[in-house]
Amino acid sequence: MNPLELIKHAIKAQGNSQSQYSNFPVGCALLSHDDKIIYGCNIESAVYPSTLCAERVAIYSALSTGIVKFKSIAIVSNNSAKPCGSCRQIIYEYLGDIPIYISDSKGLDYKEHSIGELLPYPFG
Ligand code: THU
Repeated sequence: MNPLELIKHAIKAQGNSQSQYSNFPVGCALLSHDDKIIYGCNIESAVYPSTLCAERVAIYSALSTGIVKFKSIAIVSNNSAKPCGSCRQIIYEYLGDIPIYISDSKGLDYKEHSIGELLPYPFG
């Protein structure tokens, strides 16, 4: 699957975002080793710390259905934001060295990153 196709899925996932407190919708699409696509979006709560990022929603969802090997991940937000520190850690631990496509919400401005670049000197 080409990057733009996966990004289009992440844009669809972004449409499901529950971001009524921050108004910052994020979408994520994970491509499994056997070409399944797992969606994630950020889900916010009135109890703010209970919020979960799109990336971890997708990764935890995949892991909880027994999918543990991945080919690539796409993350979209309105300003092509990079993953937070906690998501970088989970990407490092569970996805390893796969292409990370980060895009705006139109798929016009995407770049490929690696976890080595986003999280140098990792723990664990
Ligand atoms: N957010 C993500 O979904 N992923 C990130 O990597 C950074 C932040 C969400 C969490 C919260 O719902 C909103 O963006 C604002 O922080």
